[in-house]
Amino acid sequence: DSSSSGSIDDSRELQSSDGSKLGPGEAQAVLKGVLDSLLSREMIVYKQITTTSFALTEEGLDIAAKGSHEYRVWEALPAKGGVALSMPDLKKVVGDDVAKIGQMRAFKNKWIAKDGAGFVRAVDAVPDETAAQLQTIRDTGSHPQGDVVLKEVQKRKLIQPRKHIHYSVKKGANFSTEVKQLETDLTEDMLVSGSWQDASFKQYNFAAAGQPTDGGALHPLLKVREEFRQIFFDLGFTEMPTNRFVESAFWNFDAMFVPQQHPAREMQDTFYVKEPSRSTRPDEEYYERVRKVHEEGGYGSIGYRAPFSREESEKLLLRTHTTAVSTDMLYQIANQPGGFKPAKLFSIDRVFRNESTDATHLAEFHQVEGVVADYDITLGHLIAFMEEFFRKTGNTKLRFKPAYNPYTEPSMEVFSWHEGLGKWIEIANSGVFRPEMLEPMGLPKGVRVLGWGMSLERPTMIKYKISDIRTLVGHKTDLDMVRRRPAVRLEKGD
Ligand code: PHE
Repeated sequence: DSSSSGSIDDSRELQSSDGSKLGPGEAQAVLKGVLDSLLSREMIVYKQITTTSFALTEEGLDIAAKGSHEYRVWEALPAKGGVALSMPDLKKVVGDDVAKIGQMRAFKNKWIAKDGAGFVRAVDAVPDETAAQLQTIRDTGSHPQGDVVLKEVQKRKLIQPRKHIHYSVKKGANFSTEVKQLETDLTEDMLVSGSWQDASFKQYNFAAAGQPTDGGALHPLLKVREEFRQIFFDLGFTEMPTNRFVESAFWNFDAMFVPQQHPAREMQDTFYVKEPSRSTRPDEEYYERVRKVHEEGGYGSIGYRAPFSREESEKLLLRTHTTAVSTDMLYQIANQPGGFKPAKLFSIDRVFRNESTDATHLAEFHQVEGVVADYDITLGHLIAFMEEFFRKTGNTKLRFKPAYNPYTEPSMEVFSWHEGLGKWIEIANSGVFRPEMLEPMGLPKGVRVLGWGMSLERPTMIKYKISDIRTLVGHKTDLDMVRRRPAVRLEKGD
């Protein structure tokens, strides 16, 4: 019937005839789903219609069935001339509330009159308009007189409005009484067989929200690393190649004049590599000069005067500091074609130490390191370089404390005033590299080399307010945190 007229003016006609068990809300949702699906195939077009109807409240239903309070009071009373009914007796007949309210209204309507201590009817018949109006609303959801009536009974809380969503539906461009399975892809098979000509294709839904995109996110360490890199570049430094996690004990320790008996070399401090366990040999002449300065001294030094073992030198390990790379670089610079030239070098990369992990220690972390090699530079230059470098990271108040490294003399720990914590915190280690390290490399006598090193994790944790280093790296990494963290800006001094 609807297909012959070509339209359905009001979907409620459909709903009332289908006899399904769905409630009105569910039925509407199901219907909308069906309509949207047909719409996407252009089988129909539809419009949503919103209407309001009224339903009776509990009190409204009571009045529609038994009459208004005033009517019930009138009905309970005897005709004029009969035995008047007292208020307590009226209450017994119609109930307390009905008696109280009904008596007042009936009196106002002049339906009843006082007779001694009680009440009697004042007229022979009364029109119970409220009950009649409510019956109409109960049966039709509205009233022909509209708002005049509806507003009044709604004010008396006898009816409640209800919203209804329904639809008017018309045939669409592809109207059909059967739903064809739509193709979503044009396949090679369809092209070969020619079946594409009879196929119906599903419309693209350009309004669809689409899959949430899951872009990559830079790890906080990488973001802070990039900030440090830029600071080094700004200061004219060149980045060192640090892509070699496995080093020989020679470059990590010996070449830096770290004695072979130094406690840092013990297995519980350093990760040694099992397989292969031996490194290739360094340049033999250089190696011999290093052996000599350790065992016998030279270049104004008395050396360690302790046995120096090639086996110890050739051990392979996971580098314990990036200074191993700086050392190799200094050796290369000393021996490059054309000879030594001043250099400013930096690196930021991973190092490994055989430490038990806790909230502030990892067995694997990053070092930020700067090295400057030039003629006749001094401790004053080192301090000036660090003041400039750390000023660019937002650390303007620095203090230097004498310290000890086997490979630098003098050595200094660097402290920075932390405004938030209200105390000096250690931020770096530094020093002037020893001649026992530099001269065997073949660096010219007047060349001095300065360096400082620090961890990347510490400033990152301060910057991002991370209290447990284990949520930063390793299997406990908080990936959600990695995704959420904003880009970093170190508060630069300028
Ligand atoms: N290698 C040092 C460390 O591990 C840092 C450092 C680098 C010290 C350069 C002095 C010179 O802490």
